[in-house]
Amino acid sequence: MSSQPIPHTDNVSLAPGGGAVRILDQSLLPGETVYLDLSAPEELYEAIASLRVRGAPAIGIFAGYALYVLSLRPGAEDFPAFLARCREDRDYLNASRPTAVNLQHMLDRTLAAAEGASSIKEARAAMQETAFAIHREDIEMCRAISEYGLSLVKDGDGVLTHCNAGPLATSKYGTGLGPLFLSRERGMTLHAWVDETRPLLQGARLTAYELQRAGVDCTLICDNMASLVMKEGKINACFVGCDRVAANGDTANKIGTSGVAILAKHYGIPFYVLGPSSTIDFTCPDGAHIPIELRDGGEIKEKFFAKPSSLPEVKCYNPAFDVTDHSLITAIVTEKGVCYPPFDESFAALFGRKED
Ligand code: MRU
Repeated sequence: MSSQPIPHTDNVSLAPGGGAVRILDQSLLPGETVYLDLSAPEELYEAIASLRVRGAPAIGIFAGYALYVLSLRPGAEDFPAFLARCREDRDYLNASRPTAVNLQHMLDRTLAAAEGASSIKEARAAMQETAFAIHREDIEMCRAISEYGLSLVKDGDGVLTHCNAGPLATSKYGTGLGPLFLSRERGMTLHAWVDETRPLLQGARLTAYELQRAGVDCTLICDNMASLVMKEGKINACFVGCDRVAANGDTANKIGTSGVAILAKHYGIPFYVLGPSSTIDFTCPDGAHIPIELRDGGEIKEKFFAKPSSLPEVKCYNPAFDVTDHSLITAIVTEKGVCYPPFDESFAALFGRKED
């Protein structure tokens, strides 16, 4: 694995000096490019909860650095007290968002590094090493996922995307958007149809921004236009990311993803989920067991409007994710290869296990 330093201009990194996590504040994009250095527990929690850092793999990378940075706080009397505080920090950060399993996986992995040490100094060094390893592995996994994803389409194809699964949501290349960036590097032409992704507009604000800047041909549409665009024959494949994949292949991703999958099935278009194996939750049997985050209704009525779109007293229901049934998914593209149904069997063949 490469030991190149991670640039501080990445969307997530360890800030110079190593005492804070540096993030590109995604909540301000595309209008403002602002980096934040975060080190207090409440700031780190808030950054995840407010989607300043977002996208399942990026949240996982952030989690590793965040737990390490929190371990640097003075005040732990001895090693057992230090570990007890690390466990509390882990639980605190893990409560910031419930759906993306990468948060839990990477917090657990960084905590395990501390638990395997025998002194505070050794534990901090192991946690830092683990955080860097998580980051570097993600870069390599995204690259591999992008290669496998690109093998599923051909020059000239139209690809529908939902939410943002690009470099901002990961480390480099991304997952769902990775094949599009790679196609550009290879001189191929893929056309991206970008769902704006209500209510937080990750498609309009982030996916269109990343693709446009990279020179990938893209067109923004409202979410409710996807059916028409499919009917017009413009879409050859759908590429989406994932926040938690259950052992049977049911997949939680940004709200609206399951609707895209249902449309794709209707029009006979392949629907691909792309994500690293760290997003598969082998302890979760199916989608009914995936916790779905509920967010404030203000995101629907007020957030991106000059004036509220609805009366203040109107009730809102704002689930941030939905679950796409495995029967609607053509394949799940991981860093180890393309998994076709039945997913429990193809996961077992690639990952050699059914449970963690
Ligand atoms: O609420 P968000 O913006 O964090 O939701 C992100 C998504 O749904 C992404 O598609 C998913 O995390 C995969 S990112 C590679």
